[in-house]
Amino acid sequence: MDGAERAADAAAMWRALIARRGGGPRVLPEPADEKAATLKALFAPLTEPPAAPDGVLVSAHLAQSLDGRIATASGASRWISGEADLAHTHRMRALAQGVLVGAGTVRADDPRLTVRLVPGPNPVRIILDPERRLEDRHAVFRDGEAPTWLVCAEDRAGAQPPGRAELIAVPRGPGGIDLAALLRTLRARGISHLFVEGGGVTVGRFLAAGLIDRLHVAVAPLLIGSGVPALQLPEIAAPEDGLRFAVVLHRLGEDVLFDCAIARRRPTWR
Ligand SMILES: NC(=O)c1ccc[n+]([C@@H]2O[C@H](COP(=O)([O-])OP(=O)(O)OC[C@H]3O[C@@H](n4cnc5c(N)ncnc54)[C@H](OP(=O)(O)O)[C@@H]3O)[C@@H](O)[C@H]2O)c1
Repeated sequence: MDGAERAADAAAMWRALIARRGGGPRVLPEPADEKAATLKALFAPLTEPPAAPDGVLVSAHLAQSLDGRIATASGASRWISGEADLAHTHRMRALAQGVLVGAGTVRADDPRLTVRLVPGPNPVRIILDPERRLEDRHAVFRDGEAPTWLVCAEDRAGAQPPGRAELIAVPRGPGGIDLAALLRTLRARGISHLFVEGGGVTVGRFLAAGLIDRLHVAVAPLLIGSGVPALQLPEIAAPEDGLRFAVVLHRLGEDVLFDCAIARRRPTWR
């Protein structure tokens, strides 16, 4: 195969994955080349029907340094991983009906959360801001490029939503918002694949609640030495108490991507 044939093979696989996300044919082409095979291996699981009874497939991604940081102490995270992982993140957005981030990420990065680096639809942008601490000025509330839903605690739902955002009120639960209730609400609004894009607090809370099906962690050959930790979970006493799962490794440029089949397993704390 020459370069053009390889690119066409990968593009055909991507089109088939996007069609599957939209309810199109479930059969994917047989990849003739490594790039198409990698796309199929990484993303076919994200276009499967949800296995959990709540009807939502929950994926998550973090890009971390080799020493487990997703941002510097001042909150700068652009860019920890390389271009290939950035495009990978846009693919995860395109395959989900909703992309969710915590308030800390909106405050630090002011992200747009749209799909720009690959062909594909924009997901609904879902911002977890239980206490309504975010200001109105952020791009997701203003730019109108995709719908934005602001999730807050029920007792904070009185004030006007910021900019063009729609407000979704969810009960409080252990460790903050009741994430299981949030998933039920999102399913009722048509979200069957939710992509949790960070930060560490938010991904950690989904993981602690046993609500992540698939976790992608890109590890970059970079040492930061301080800053925002990738995952924050309650302490365990011994390594054997940690969460173990099946994993497949992929090379993404200079980075290594861990594709972790969490399958809603939940850590146990003694
Ligand atoms: N490298 C990467 O992959 C990546 C990805 C995303 C972000 N980042 C970086 O990570 C940093 C932000 O991450 P972070 O871990 O500090 O914050 P974060 O996860 O973005 O946001 C945390 C905040 O979201 C709210 N929240 C999230 N889950 C909640 C729950 N279940 N219940 C209640 N509230 C919940 C809380 O807001 P309140 O405290 O207001 O209640 C919480 O403090 C930024 O510097 C950003 O640049 C890096």
